[in-house]
Amino acid sequence: MNPNIKQDIKNKIKQLTKEKNAIILAHNYEPPEIQDIADLNGDSLELSIKASQTDADIIVFCGVKFMAETASILSPDKTILLPRPDAGCPMADMITPEGLKAWMAKNPSMPIVTYVNSTAAVKALTTICCTSANVVKVVNSLDAKEILMTPDRNLADYAATKTNKIIHKWDGYCPFHDALTPEQVLKQKKAYPDALFMAHPECRAEVLALADVITSTSGMIRTAHESESTSFIVGTEVGLLYPLQKANPDKTFYPASIAMECVDMKKITPQDVLNSLENLSGEVKVPEDIRIPALQSVQRMIEL
Ligand code: 13P
Ligand code: SF4
Repeated sequence: MNPNIKQDIKNKIKQLTKEKNAIILAHNYEPPEIQDIADLNGDSLELSIKASQTDADIIVFCGVKFMAETASILSPDKTILLPRPDAGCPMADMITPEGLKAWMAKNPSMPIVTYVNSTAAVKALTTICCTSANVVKVVNSLDAKEILMTPDRNLADYAATKTNKIIHKWDGYCPFHDALTPEQVLKQKKAYPDALFMAHPECRAEVLALADVITSTSGMIRTAHESESTSFIVGTEVGLLYPLQKANPDKTFYPASIAMECVDMKKITPQDVLNSLENLSGEVKVPEDIRIPALQSVQRMIEL
């Protein structure tokens, strides 16, 4: 795109956010041009907390639908805009409220921990939510021997290694993290023997077994900053390479696999953000009968 048009779009976005008292939030996987126009960037947990704390009337959420829903759950009086309403999360769609209700009917007293990568309707049936940043803390906070974790089977396997609780798992997964193989990681380790391997807990157990550090996306940015290592193999969605490099210009980052690219996280363009702000299009509003019970599970997590 012509750089003048690009700059023009950026200027209009800036002006509209001021005029309409709006704020732009962007997940760490969003394209660089979206991360650069955002007021706040972060991982799922940080963004949900920041969304609940802002004084803005409008939140433009550059991420995927479950994130915008979480913002709506926490801030019912604000207008939450998802510039591309079709930006979803395949993992979130791997569990339905009907499926979860059927499971609950068979296991009525077992608490349910649900990853924030889930629909509001599933959160509404959940005891407590978790993110990749706080999963171990959440699981250990529950006064129960057995729990069900949904929808990510890999996150559940990871949590099971950090607790002595019996964890039952839903069979969902992130198609991009789940596809990373130990062979791909070993190939990169061989090519870059001094690099530290950071992996996201959405990866399979056999990949996590090779990791030096297992953490959320923002956890990886902090690790890279604090570590004495100067090179890193990054076992998560490739969009994270941009904020990693930006925050650590003297260090080198290699993707564990360039195939780890989430299609939905790449949908929003600056023009979509501008359209959304101009027309207040793409509003995400969770209905009150779902929002109230979903809020309980999200709030329990935030208050931990
Ligand atoms: P975090 O940024 O919370 O680690 O989440 C990863 C993710 O898959 C978001 O969709
Ligand atoms: Fe969902 Fe995976 Fe994309 Fe995150 S990276 S939004 S978990 S599909």
